[in-house]
Amino acid sequence: EFYTPYKLGIITVSDKGSRGERLDESGDEIERIFSERGFKISARTIIPDDREIISETIKNFTDKLKLNLVLTTGGTGFSPRDNTPEATLAVLEKNVPGIAESMRLYSSKFTDKAMLSRAVSGIRKSSLIINLPGSLKAVRENIKAFEGPLIHGLDILN
Ligand code: MTE
Repeated sequence: EFYTPYKLGIITVSDKGSRGERLDESGDEIERIFSERGFKISARTIIPDDREIISETIKNFTDKLKLNLVLTTGGTGFSPRDNTPEATLAVLEKNVPGIAESMRLYSSKFTDKAMLSRAVSGIRKSSLIINLPGSLKAVRENIKAFEGPLIHGLDILN
């Protein structure tokens, strides 16, 4: 059988980004890192910090597009418009706490503010969904926390 690259969807959650007032450097970085590792970037979008829109976008990526991995960036902190974890929890079928725990543990080597990310991770159908914080630096550091075991997890899901 031919090797099929895993399909990745990238969701940048940002009010400013969705209005075109901010460049999506974090989305670009996720795309670059995962392309290098052989993933197919199947879908990418920038949406506002709206709970309903975030949940619907994730469901579109998992249920309709059947992506293997969905990464969100942004909206995991304490500001009133940070809604990504709640919108993600609303559509998860299984919680995978270890990925989010590992991200915070690993990130605490770089900043004590790592604990302020409320990111969650879990499974819906055959898709793994992981929240990343919004900044470029945080995206780079958090991906490093789970990239080792990621393919093993995706292999089991499929
Ligand atoms: N994790 C890493 N590895 N590096 C960082 O710079 N920034 C933190 C945290 N996690 C950071 C990090 C900060 S300052 C915040 S407020 C939270 O992520 C939430 O970020 P978000 O609101 O952009 O999602």
